[in-house]
Amino acid sequence: MKQIKNICCIGAGYVGGPTMAVIAKNNPHITVTIVDINADRIAAWNDKDLTKLPIYEPGLADIVKETRNKNLFFSTDINKAIDQSEMIFMSVNTPTKTYGKGKGMAADLKYIELCARTIADVATTDKIVVEKSTLPVRTAEAIKSILHNTGNHINFHILSNPEFLAEGTAIKDLLNPDRVLIGGESEEAIESLAKIYESWVPKNQIIRTNLWSSELSKLTANAFLAQRISSINAISELCELTGANVNEVSKAIGMDSRIGSKFLKASVGFGGSCFQKDILNLVYIARSYHLNEVADYWEQVIIMNDHQKRRFSDRLIKTLYNTVSGKKIALLGWAFKKDTNDTRESAAIYVTDHLLSEQATVSVYDPKVSSEKMQSDLNYLNTRTEDENFNLVQTVSNPYDAVKNAHAVAIMTEWDEFITYDWEIIYKSMKKPAFIFDGRNILEKSKMEAIGFEYHAIGQ
Ligand code: UDX
Ligand code: ADP
Repeated sequence: MKQIKNICCIGAGYVGGPTMAVIAKNNPHITVTIVDINADRIAAWNDKDLTKLPIYEPGLADIVKETRNKNLFFSTDINKAIDQSEMIFMSVNTPTKTYGKGKGMAADLKYIELCARTIADVATTDKIVVEKSTLPVRTAEAIKSILHNTGNHINFHILSNPEFLAEGTAIKDLLNPDRVLIGGESEEAIESLAKIYESWVPKNQIIRTNLWSSELSKLTANAFLAQRISSINAISELCELTGANVNEVSKAIGMDSRIGSKFLKASVGFGGSCFQKDILNLVYIARSYHLNEVADYWEQVIIMNDHQKRRFSDRLIKTLYNTVSGKKIALLGWAFKKDTNDTRESAAIYVTDHLLSEQATVSVYDPKVSSEKMQSDLNYLNTRTEDENFNLVQTVSNPYDAVKNAHAVAIMTEWDEFITYDWEIIYKSMKKPAFIFDGRNILEKSKMEAIGFEYHAIGQ
């Protein structure tokens, strides 16, 4: 087994940052350097003010405080960090392709390829290269080919070590993972990585597989999790028409130990950087092998999710007497889930876009997302000009400003603080009748109705 003294992680994002911080914390004898081409992001990671870290995750700032500039470093000097390390994690973004073949479906691997080429060019000693980003099955083959055919003809071992952390609970998930998965061809390389995890993860929770099983397991895990949400969301629509209550149905089925209770919360639709991207990727791979039934099966999870987002805004518009033109709608929450400032694929973006197309004005409050981010999310859709987005969407730093004179409040993210608000004051400040559309089922129907609201939840 190779003794690892220096680790380099390429990509200082939502995965690379927290993962490496936890590895550094638990392996004080290893120097971990996280590098990124984005100099602003690296500067934010190095900011003395820990509230300025580029990503928000409960517990992350404490670990950064404990390890930064001791055995955890953030740098833009990518080549130096690669050359000095025995193990390199690739943790760069793999978004869905927005051009060319596979547009809108396949993963864009240009960042991964660039990473592999940089490693091949720079490395002068043998390296273990670890895929941390979620990648299509058989990506390791392409990486291997680049590493072995360019550069200095040194030895590379490729491992797949997908990360299963969920945002908002990243530190908890990393410190106490259900399992760690390592796929590879070289037993020595696998054991070198396993040893790093063994400093805090019980040995029997570290699974070894071949490369392709590891790559495919990550896509499959995300597809299964997303499928559960689309399944319960499908049932939520039926609940709204039959008098059944989706929360009661979830509880009833979740107590069956074969089904289990997690990931059965009906919502306005799942978001995040992984579920949609990974399923589209799975669908694309299945189609490329001409497995059309397999592809159609998984694609339905995405179709259902899009339907759920659209259904939510349709219902809001219909309830407001079929028009929201000129009406103020308050959105509480913009992040794709609570306890994160990440907004990738957040339902709030699509619901807002729909409301704007019906000429509503939208006022948004989120405890952790900046107004610049909200505006750039809308601009990215390219459905109207930046000025129009700016004029139609007001982003406020106080929830009570968001709801003032609004015709309806839509809850988009399940932030805990929303439950604690003084809903009587909110009611008084709104236009009447005052509507709540609870996209996360976090408020109590009877309490809201007692105040005077007309309350609509998902699946009730
Ligand atoms: C997910 C996987 O959980 C994680 O293992 C993987 O590494 C990355 O993708 P993440 O996207 O960070 O993690 O968050 P997750 O908690 O899975 O939530 C994803 C979306 O589903 C959120 O929008 C969330 O609000 C929604 N969701 C989740 C529901 O609507 N209902 C649920 O019951 C659970
Ligand atoms: P994830 O959620 O997978 O961590 P992010 O987008 O948050 O994704 O982070 C990926 C990071 O990888 C970004 O900060 C981006 O600047 C960085 N990155 C992408 N390509 C490269 C590269 N070739 N070299 C260094 N960093 C890169």
